[in-house]
Formats: sequence, C-alpha cells, structure tokens
Amino acid sequence: MKVCIIGTGYVGLPTGVGLCTLGHKVTCVDKDAAKIANLNYGHSTLYEPYLKELLEEHLKNKAIKFTTDIKKALKDAKVVILAVGTPTSNDGASADLTYIKQAAKEVAENLPNNYTVICTKSTVPVGTNDLIEDIFKKYCMHTNWDIVSLPEFLKEGCAIKDFLLADRIVIGTDSKRARQRISTLYSGHSSELYFTSRRSAELIKYASNAFLAIKINYINEIANLCEKCGAKVDEVAKGMGLDRRIGNKFLQAGIGFGGSCFPKDTKALSYTAQEYKTNMPLVDVAILENHCRVSKLVKRIESLVKPTQKLALLGLTFKANTDDCRESQAVKIADKLSKKYKHIKVYDPKGMDNAKKVLKDKVEYAKLSTDAVKGADAIIILTGWNSFKVNFKKILKNSKKSCIIIDYVNLLNPKQVTNHKYYCIGK
Ligand code: UDX
Repeated sequence: MKVCIIGTGYVGLPTGVGLCTLGHKVTCVDKDAAKIANLNYGHSTLYEPYLKELLEEHLKNKAIKFTTDIKKALKDAKVVILAVGTPTSNDGASADLTYIKQAAKEVAENLPNNYTVICTKSTVPVGTNDLIEDIFKKYCMHTNWDIVSLPEFLKEGCAIKDFLLADRIVIGTDSKRARQRISTLYSGHSSELYFTSRRSAELIKYASNAFLAIKINYINEIANLCEKCGAKVDEVAKGMGLDRRIGNKFLQAGIGFGGSCFPKDTKALSYTAQEYKTNMPLVDVAILENHCRVSKLVKRIESLVKPTQKLALLGLTFKANTDDCRESQAVKIADKLSKKYKHIKVYDPKGMDNAKKVLKDKVEYAKLSTDAVKGADAIIILTGWNSFKVNFKKILKNSKKSCIIIDYVNLLNPKQVTNHKYYCIGK
C-alpha cells in the first residue's frame, strides 16, 4: 500500500526504507529542500548501517521517493506516519510538541477524503494523540481518518535491524478499521502485533526507555561498587544476565546513557508524572546519577593525568555505529576536560562533524585514530567502536612507549596493553 511519512530523520528514514522492504510504496516529506534533494539522489543524510544500500535499492525500484510537497505526498496514502522530532522543551524537562502539532495540522489540512490511518511514531507524552485528534477535528474537512499511536523502538546504529526484527510492534487504537489497516501494513512482518489502547501505547514507549535507562544506571552503580570491593562488573553482569528475568542486554557498564532518546524520554516521563500529581524517584535518580557520572569520570582522569600532559580521546558519538553526538556523554567528558587540559586531540570514525558543532575549537581534531594518539601521554576510550578494538595494536604504534590507557567502555583486553598503565570501569 501507499504510505506517507512526515519527517526524514533517525526514525522517518529507517522506517521508510523498512516499509519498502515489506513491499510498500513510500513517499517521505520534509521541509528541508536540500535534504530532500540529497535523499532523491540516494545520499543518506544520516549514518545507519544498511541504510544507504536499502535507500539506493528502493530508489532504483521506485518504491521510495522524497518531496517537500505534502499535498502530493498524501494523495492515495492509506497510512500516514508522523515521525517528526519531539525534543526537550526550554524548561529542560517536558517534550516540545511544536513540530508534531504543526505536522498534524498540515496533514489535516491536505488529507484527501479516503479512509486514512494517521500514525504518531514520534515519541509523545501520554494523551498527545488525543490532542492530535482534536487538531484533525479542527482542520480536516472530513472525518474519514483514525489517529493511532505507533511508537518506534529503533536503536540508533541498528535501526534497520530493529525495524525488520522488532521484538514487538505496539499499536494504540480502539478503531477496528485502523486495526485492520495496520495489520495489513505489517502483514509481511514477522514480529508480534500488540494492539492496546492509545494511551497505553504512548506510555509503553516512555516506560520502556526509562526502564532501560534505569538498568544502565544500575549496572554503573554496581560498577562503582566493584571498583571498591574487588569484584569485576563484566563478571557480575554476566552472572546477572543468565537470569532470564533480568536478561543480558543493557548491562554494559560505561560512561552513562546519551543520545536523542534516553535523556529526553526520562526527563519527559518524570515531568508527565508530576503533571499527573505522582512521581518517579527511580527515574529521577537515574537522570541525576547519569548527569553526575560525567564529573565523576573526569575527576578520575584528572587524578591520573597532569594538566600539562597530552590527552587523546577516542570516540565522541553517544554510542558506536552512529554519527550522532546528541547528549553524548563522551562529548560532555571532552568538553569538561578541555577546561583543564590544553592539549586534547580527538577522533571518532563517524561523529567528527557533529562533535565539532559542540566542541568547536576547544579540542584538536585528528584525521585518524593513529594521529590522535601520537605523542599522547594518556589515551581515553569513550565510545565502544569495534574499529578501536580490532586495530588497537596498530593505533598504539604511534603512541608513547608507555602511556596511560583509560578504557571507559571496557573495550580492550588488558592483556593487549601490558606495557601501558591500563584503567577501565568496574574492575
Ligand atoms: C534507545 C532505545 O534503545 C530504543 O528502543 C528507542 O527507540 C530509542 O532510544 P538509542 O538511544 O538509539 O535507542 O540507543 P541505545 O542502544 O538504547 O543506547 C542508549 C544509550 O545507552 C547510549 O549512550 C549507550 O551507550 C548506552 N548504553 C546502552 C549503555 O551505557 N549500556 C548498555 O548496556 C546499553
């Protein structure tokens, strides 16, 4: 069937090529004409493994196209997916619904009078789909539509895989027609379709992300204790994860959670709880602990490396396999270090341009990891890129004979770096 997606970012684009892979015809809309032109040429505007290949394939077989013209894009669309950003508002907590309300209004004003299901894929606070429904009632000339919550669960760096091999697809609707339409949309998909109420679907997204953020915060607290009591956090995590009730995912101790979701969604969930006159202390503590972890890890570096010494930082993205530096703990650590250290060289395989937008001239940017470590007294690994792990012996070729290695993502095997002073997390 024909699908229209509003928004071509980290959610819209992978969803678009994923739906083409299921056999649908997709038209993606964005206000950014330059971005649309790029995409129609097959130039993916963001890095996601397999995205480029799928984009080229679906452009070639005319399954996907990109336009700024929403009216044209909505023609014959059976499903419309709203995938615009819902960033944190200026109050630093609530979700900013400006873009989603704008997108809803524009779709409502241009929607042809054929039954269409409007799906909100953007992460929105509980009750937002009711608000979107009110927008349609106000601006759409007919009522031949249903508004459905269709939250995304795409991890950056594996969005395509998460789309095609989703653990579940959550659909919030009370409409039988909408249920049938979405069942058809996903008929070629292997995952379970979980139909629930709209508000439950909205909350499932926040509840899931906040739980994962708490889980990460928890293993980082365990790591702190391991460093004091002689246990090893990777061994503890493995032993915990063998309990199927706990599971082995999201138990990797490190520098804390970043990205465009966990920081935003935990704050928005806590804000929503307050709006409904309840509270979520576990979520609040995870937010606070995650924030404080940056200073804690910087202090440890300061205790090991003198201010006059040279630092090499490897990894700036909020996680590996992405170019995204939004709310990256690694960038926050780099920024804090730049206040004390004058000689900092940084390198990241994909995130240098995005990191530069934040770090500007506070650090020096190396073209290669081997350049970054040249003459460095201390090498600090902040993002778990596999390329650092497999090439570390080569990376060390340019470093000093014996330097300090601080591995904040427990990427390396200490045996790889015996002639250096090696420090890591939770051991
Ligand atoms: C997250 C959710 O996982 C996804 O379902 C949702 O749709 C969007 O938000 P994302 O933020 O892209 O995905 O990446 P994720 O892999 O969840 O990592 C989030 C942060 O947690 C990263 O900074 C990562 O480094 C950190 N993390 C993750 C850990 O520190 N330890 C872990 O074990 C896993």
